[in-house]
Amino acid sequence: MEGPPDIRVLIVGAGIGGLLLAILLEKAGIPYMVIERTSTFRPLGSAISLSAAVQPLLEQLGLLDEINEASKPEQAAYFYDESLTRIGAVDAVFSKERYGYYVRMLSRPTLYNILLRRIPKEKILLGKRVIGVEQTETRAMVRCADQSVHEADVVVGADGAYSAVRQNMFRELDQRHKLRSSDAKPMAIDQECVVGTTEPLDPARFPIVGEEFSTLHIVLSVDRQYAFWAVPVEDNRLSWIIGHKLEDKDYRKQETFKSSEWGPEAAEEICSKVRHLNCPVSGSIDEIINSTKPSLRSRVFLEEKLFKTWTSGRVVLLGDGAMQAMFDAVSIANHLSELEHNTVEAISTCFQAYYDERKKSAKDAVHGSRQVSTILSSHGWAVDVARKVSLSYVPDWLVRLIRDKTSSVRPQAIFLQRVPDRGSVRAKPTRVSVRALEFCRIRRQRAAAAAALLMTQQQLATKQASLNSFV
Ligand SMILES: Cc1cc2nc3c(=O)[nH]c(=O)nc-3n(C[C@H](O)[C@H](O)[C@H](O)COP(=O)(O)OP(=O)(O)OC[C@H]3O[C@@H](n4cnc5c(N)ncnc54)[C@H](O)[C@@H]3O)c2cc1C
Ligand SMILES: *[C@@H]1O[C@H](CO)[C@@H](O)[C@H](O)[C@H]1NC(C)=O
Repeated sequence: MEGPPDIRVLIVGAGIGGLLLAILLEKAGIPYMVIERTSTFRPLGSAISLSAAVQPLLEQLGLLDEINEASKPEQAAYFYDESLTRIGAVDAVFSKERYGYYVRMLSRPTLYNILLRRIPKEKILLGKRVIGVEQTETRAMVRCADQSVHEADVVVGADGAYSAVRQNMFRELDQRHKLRSSDAKPMAIDQECVVGTTEPLDPARFPIVGEEFSTLHIVLSVDRQYAFWAVPVEDNRLSWIIGHKLEDKDYRKQETFKSSEWGPEAAEEICSKVRHLNCPVSGSIDEIINSTKPSLRSRVFLEEKLFKTWTSGRVVLLGDGAMQAMFDAVSIANHLSELEHNTVEAISTCFQAYYDERKKSAKDAVHGSRQVSTILSSHGWAVDVARKVSLSYVPDWLVRLIRDKTSSVRPQAIFLQRVPDRGSVRAKPTRVSVRALEFCRIRRQRAAAAAALLMTQQQLATKQASLNSFV
């Protein structure tokens, strides 16, 4: 067998997806760099819910103990109308018995920091906003706003919903008349949200924050336009989301690349729409919002759009929506770990295989909401059911049926020791790759040899220096 080619990967965007990919490449022994637009990490965001489908991978990467420690298992989701009458409930504890893991609730900043800690500092460049992406037969290059240019064999756009890598890729395809017409259309905005996580709350005042299990509470307002979500996370904090479903069709068509970034701007307007509502978790919604620093209340627009083009030559995109981004990351890492040649052809084939593997799940996920997919889409379907079957409980058999389907694929890295399948409902068998394992071993050997060589050179240099000084 020929050894693996020398490839360098440039990951644009240190979000959840970019960081997880970096951890995977680190394990695969594939050299990489991450470049990120922001120069400091802001602890923004609401809760992330990690389903049983993603946890075998996190276990395999040695992240699960820390995540379990820092999160709460989910017990159920409850739905209320504006008068706080419970209109629906969805059980979640069965996840452990059926798929081997509880659904885990934690704040985005906490998950973020767990991932960030695993990546060597020198492999992340901060304050680099990508504005251009180009490629030739042999290289891919990104240009940043600070005029720096970074080269690699492969560029992964993990830069979120309004990806600059994607916009550049599409512009370039358009110039060659190769952009699909559906991809050329602007994104339609579907929802507007404000999200946040409170400071630690007093369990005497908010008993649910002190409980071992986390229960998601969702209040649907009378006109069904606004919804308030609250969920206990680690450290006695509550994560919350105010969702506003946009109806106006014209509004949906607006260009939103600028206004749609995650950020604390203009959050108050939406907050004011729900402040008066009662809250099912003691206290008031007003109080929960006020317990969150204004700078950590962020507004975002959510779009629903599935792009059909994910890759072009040496450039590939990684989906947004935390769960989707994580599944995309492992799929990309798996395919790269088996790559045999550093040619555009081989790389294109590799990324096409990634697209084929992921496109169906991505399509299913868009049905929910891509960006806040972590909570909104994993429970969003339940909101829809609660709206339609109003005032009734979502039957357990239906919940199990849907969850069985979404939990059937629990991907793992093909270049690492697999973790055993857990739970009474078996996962679809994951692929095993002898080649990936072998390549991984060779890469580690090469890295060790290179390190040893560097060491010898340094020793020689020191010797030389001392000889020189002697002379
Ligand atoms: C600040 C923030 C708060 C969020 N809060 C929530 C939340 O509460 N609940 C939830 O479900 N989801 C939230 N999300 C979205 C959620 O994290 C993503 O949907 C999910 O993590 C998948 O992420 P991703 O890696 O695809 O993209 P993202 O998490 O959006 O990360 C993209 C990264 O790329 C960087 N980037 C963007 N453009 C460029 C560029 N041109 N050059 C270099 N870097 C660039 C961004 O700064 C960001 O760090 C949030 C995202 C962000 C960025
Ligand atoms: C919360 O903050 C708002 C705006 O600053 C204020 O009007 C309101 O009285 C506060 N509510 C509580 C319960 O502290």
